Amino acid sequence: MQTWIDRLISEHSLPPEIYRMLLNTSDADTLTYLHRMAHFTTLSNFGNRIFIRGLIEVSSYCRNNCLYCGIRSGNNRAERYRLDKDTIQQCCHTGYELGFRTFVMQGGEDPQQTPVWWKEVVSEIRRTYPDCAITLSLGEMNREDYQMLYQAGANRYLLRHETYNSEHYRMLHPEKMSQAHRLQCLDWLKEAGFQTGTGFMVGSPGQTSDNLVEDLLYIERFKPEMIGIGPFLPHRDTPFANRQPGNEDLTLRLISILRLMHPHALIPSTTALASLSPDGRLKGIQAGANVVMPNLSPVTQRSKYSLYNNKAALGAEAAEGLALLEKQLESIGYTLSYERGDFQGETK
Ligand code: 5AD
Repeated sequence: MQTWIDRLISEHSLPPEIYRMLLNTSDADTLTYLHRMAHFTTLSNFGNRIFIRGLIEVSSYCRNNCLYCGIRSGNNRAERYRLDKDTIQQCCHTGYELGFRTFVMQGGEDPQQTPVWWKEVVSEIRRTYPDCAITLSLGEMNREDYQMLYQAGANRYLLRHETYNSEHYRMLHPEKMSQAHRLQCLDWLKEAGFQTGTGFMVGSPGQTSDNLVEDLLYIERFKPEMIGIGPFLPHRDTPFANRQPGNEDLTLRLISILRLMHPHALIPSTTALASLSPDGRLKGIQAGANVVMPNLSPVTQRSKYSLYNNKAALGAEAAEGLALLEKQLESIGYTLSYERGDFQGETK
């Protein structure tokens, strides 16, 4: 298997059956080698710096009814909030003072926060912080809206494909959503000029290792600038309340494979991974992640952005806990980077 890992390092691609073997193997030497090479690749491309992004959770209203998600429209026990323009500006201000140079605005597909409304918000943040990157994670829109937001000054967009397999996609999503439209949106985002991020949940209900191979092959072809993956975690008020959470080791293994596939990609050690176990975030970094996204949302609203239960929101997960995060990273030989940290590789 080590020869195959060497081939992934040199060619950034493997045949599907080898990806499947890597996902299923329990050979300790193979896994140690995979993680070590991913860690080494990250260090040689980025040094020992971990980029930080300030995450602002802008709305817990959502028109969609995805079966896994705690803020699905059908969850009438969810507490809903949406941030107004001034509050979003205030979050950026707090973040800027703390040293953040990327603001990530993420929310449900809130019918009241329309693309035109976002255009105004983005334009204003762009005017106020010309030196910062603006990342949006606001779900599906039409092509013209993506173009408009890019022109207003947004630089990056995160939209996970969630699962490449269309039947699996249908199991996780309501009838009116489709894998085909999701992928269409991702193409539009790239075409509009965004540094584009995609990704998937690990261990979502019904997922097979063949599905994960399909996810890997899609990401190999799509060449996203950013790749976000994290374990599925159940939320009590969803149809998947009683399902098992995703597996930590498998998530780490996927992070390492993705790092070797796309050596320059920006890969976060996600909140879901940090929520699964106390040292999940650090393990993600040691597997090849190089971004963390502390929470900059107003503290009073934070608990309402509940995509899954037991979400990490305190300490090193919070923008107020930067000193703790810094200390944790130092304990494994890393420092926080406050740089804007744009994608530096070639994917186009
Ligand atoms: N467990 C893990 N991740 C989730 N997401 C949504 N619900 C869950 C859950 N229950 C992820 C989705 C989405 C991102 C914002 O959060 O992948 O794209």
